[in-house]
Amino acid sequence: MAVIGLGLIGGSLAAAVRANRLAGEVVAADKRFDDVLTGLELGIIDEAAETLEQAVRGADLVVVAVPVRATEAVLQEIKPYLSADAVLTDVGSTKASFVSAVQSVFGEVGPHVIPGHPIAGSEKSGVRAANPDLFANHKIILTPADNTEPNRLARLSALWEGCGATVLTMSVAYHDEVLAATSHLPHLIAFSLVDTLAGEDENMDIFRYAAGGFRDFTRIAASDPVMWHDIFLSNQQAVLRVIDHFTRDLGQLRTAIAQQDSATLLRVFSRAKAAREHFSKMLSGQAYVTDMSQNQVTFQLKPGGSVTGDIRVPGDKSISHRSIMLGALADGITEVKGFLEGEDSLATLQAFRDMGVTIEGPDNGFVRIHGVGIDGLQAPRGPLYLGNSGTAMRLFAGLLAAQGFDSELTGDESLSRRPMGRVADPLRAMGAVIDTAEGGRPPMKIRGGQPLTGIHYEMPVASAQVKSCLLLAGLYAGGVTSVTEPAPTRDHTERMLDGFGYHVHRKGATASVSGGGRLAATAIDVPADISSAAFFLVAASIAPDSDLTLRHVGMNPTRVGVINILRLMGANIEILNEREIGGEPVADLRVRSAELTGIDIPEDQVPLAIDEFPVLFIAATCATGETVLRGAEELRVKESDRIQVMADGLAAVGVESTVTPDGIVIQGGQEIAGGTVDSHGDHRIAMSFAVASLRATGPIQVTDCANVATSFPGFVELARQTGIQIAAEGV
Ligand code: S3P
Repeated sequence: MAVIGLGLIGGSLAAAVRANRLAGEVVAADKRFDDVLTGLELGIIDEAAETLEQAVRGADLVVVAVPVRATEAVLQEIKPYLSADAVLTDVGSTKASFVSAVQSVFGEVGPHVIPGHPIAGSEKSGVRAANPDLFANHKIILTPADNTEPNRLARLSALWEGCGATVLTMSVAYHDEVLAATSHLPHLIAFSLVDTLAGEDENMDIFRYAAGGFRDFTRIAASDPVMWHDIFLSNQQAVLRVIDHFTRDLGQLRTAIAQQDSATLLRVFSRAKAAREHFSKMLSGQAYVTDMSQNQVTFQLKPGGSVTGDIRVPGDKSISHRSIMLGALADGITEVKGFLEGEDSLATLQAFRDMGVTIEGPDNGFVRIHGVGIDGLQAPRGPLYLGNSGTAMRLFAGLLAAQGFDSELTGDESLSRRPMGRVADPLRAMGAVIDTAEGGRPPMKIRGGQPLTGIHYEMPVASAQVKSCLLLAGLYAGGVTSVTEPAPTRDHTERMLDGFGYHVHRKGATASVSGGGRLAATAIDVPADISSAAFFLVAASIAPDSDLTLRHVGMNPTRVGVINILRLMGANIEILNEREIGGEPVADLRVRSAELTGIDIPEDQVPLAIDEFPVLFIAATCATGETVLRGAEELRVKESDRIQVMADGLAAVGVESTVTPDGIVIQGGQEIAGGTVDSHGDHRIAMSFAVASLRATGPIQVTDCANVATSFPGFVELARQTGIQIAAEGV
């Protein structure tokens, strides 16, 4: 390996390659020959070359590690001596400049040229700062071209990996844009800030009293001036674009301070705080909300146990989503207690931040939303990523169809498979312009600036998401928007709109709103989610010697299907301390072990227990006799096909069932023998099999459980606290 330029990066690479024995011989050349001799003395190279010719002759790999503006001269000089099959790479911070230097010297970028850029460094420079561990756990970006020879790419990648780095590949143009924003701009600001302050009269005092913040922020202003001079001039266009953007935003902050505009300051600062907390994702250009399906989490469950204690499960997901939505659109400040800090509702929260709403928190379930008024949302800078959340996507569709700006809604793999035609079609009938992917799937592209007109819609499926979507669009539509449901579905949107002072007319199965009103900020106390409580209602019912109290559970009559069904099966659930908080009924539930019997589940209970069937199937397995579910085809389009995935999971632990198009038949009393269940990334499937372990005779392993965090953060700890013998691996 020949290293041309033995500074911090060249020297560190030489040192790492030698330390890890990745090359037969490491030769270096530098226009400062003293540095090469120092490298030899420090033992980071094998041979000091006096000329570039000497370094390059016979080398299999040539690494150009000089300031980027010096590259072309170096290439010119080494050209005659470069062997035909040597790999030529570099380590510069801008890639287009290296490629154009190669082009001008060689006339083309051949298959042996692979530009590279290690995202590692230090404000220190020079060979004496060389460090063989500099690249360990850092990223190295390679920007191969279409004609790059794959073997050479693989060998160069292996070399960097051998130094402990992770290799990413991307295009030259993308690299330069990303680095202009994430590296070049911060360096420019650091240089500029230190220079400005050093020029102030009292600079001595400024530096003497400089606090940690100044030190942290300006560390990189001690970097090598020549190197950075070259970087800015080589990446000129991309850097100018981000400087302009930054200057504009800084100007806005200046104006906000001058005008005592607290809302803007708080909005920018809280958005930045959230972004900083998700820094690693920001750097790779991903959304702030985690795509949990990329995390591998496995539940390990030991069989048996009983369930006892006094617990409160996290806040209601449906109400949490809506609290952010309506709080954001209201006039004034809405304070929310008990907000669910799960990935789904956090996706909603972040999306509103992306649309310019200042939201403080969440902090232990407390959120303060600075409402922007019904017409105050701003265009987001990019697509709104809604993770795993069908509720978010469908309700957003209604809201965004009525905005003045275009928007795009995206989600994770599971959400990307779910049907959106059910909201897009009626919204189109109101005048919305929406594109979906094939089969009415996400992403949804929504054209802004379309006047909406109220419609009457008879919903073909009993869906609270569709109803809520249309009511939200109806807030902006001309005239009256009314929705009739084929069976009662959760009515949180209607209740909460009323709570925000927006009248919803309800008559029988029809809810309607008149467009053009406003919402007044209010306080919201989110009850514990009955859908999360459901796992423990079943757990304590099926496990012997159980006695569990669940506090502050939301008891909205449109959500209590799980209690009705379990009681029909013989469960022992006491409803205590019933009260109403912020327009939603709440109670404490005491549940004790009971002998359950199989039933024909009344079809009118299906929409009222729509999310609770996975765990009800576990109850059915532990009951005596047969349980039959019909009229529940909706389960097939939830986060997974919950009928099939549950049947497969039951089969995996030794329980047979009969799947029908719209339900399932389960013979109770079968042994749950244990085994490995694939949850298909569906949070409720994963938690249901955790509950099943209580009556299993062998251990159960549930894979793909990361999405439990979408609705029930802290499930594993709480389950363990009550007596379920659960451990999570890979968290
Ligand atoms: C929800 C409605 C239900 C439910 C979902 C939350 C809501 O979906 O399954 O978890 O908050 O409106 P459908 O309305 O599509 O049945």
